[in-house]
Amino acid sequence: MRLTSRSWPADRRLPASAYRRLEPAALGWRRVASRRACTPASQHRRSTMAQDAIALLEADHQRVEGLFREFKSAGGDPAAKLHLAQIICMELTLHAMVEEEIFYPAFATAVGDEQLVEHARKEHQRVKELIARVPQAENLDGAIEAIWRNALEHIEEERRDIFTKAKASGMELATLGGRIQSRRAEVATTVQEA
Ligand SMILES: [Fe+2]
Ligand SMILES: [Fe+2]
Repeated sequence: MRLTSRSWPADRRLPASAYRRLEPAALGWRRVASRRACTPASQHRRSTMAQDAIALLEADHQRVEGLFREFKSAGGDPAAKLHLAQIICMELTLHAMVEEEIFYPAFATAVGDEQLVEHARKEHQRVKELIARVPQAENLDGAIEAIWRNALEHIEEERRDIFTKAKASGMELATLGGRIQSRRAEVATTVQEA
C-alpha cells in the first residue's frame, strides 16, 4: 500500500522533510518505518490565506479519521501500518499542540468556560499517554485502536461543545487560524533545522 497525494489535502500539509524528521525522532520511536515518500514535493504548496481556526482544526480531525481508516485497511503490510501509525501519532501530537497553545486559551477567554477546556486537556493527556506506549506495543493494531477510540470520543465532544460555543461567541477565528498556521509552519521549520 502506498500513501498517495489524495490522502493529504494539499494546503494542510507539512513539508515532506518535516514528516521524515518528525516521524521517529519527535515521538521517541525506536523502530524505524520504511522510508516511503508520503507526499511529492510539488504537493507542498501552502496556502497564504489565513483560514478559519475551526475549519483548520476540523480538517485535522477529518485527515486523522482518514488515516485511521487507511490503517485499518492496510491489512497485512506491517511496514505500511507502522508508517501510518507514526503519522497518526504525529498528526495528533501536532493537533493537540496548536489547540492547547492557541485555540483553547482563546476559547477560554472568549467563552469563559474553563471547565470545558480543562476536560479537553485531560482527554488530550489520555491520548498522549496512549501515543507514548505505541513504540513498545506488542499489538500495534490494538494500540492504534485504543488511540482512535479515545481520539474519536474527544473529537465528537469537541465538535459538539467547544466548536459550537466558539462559533456562537464571535471569536476572531480567522486571526486564530493564521496563528495556528504560523505555529505549524514554525514547528516544521524547527524540525527541518534540527
Ligand atoms: Fe482537542
Ligand atoms: Fe481537535
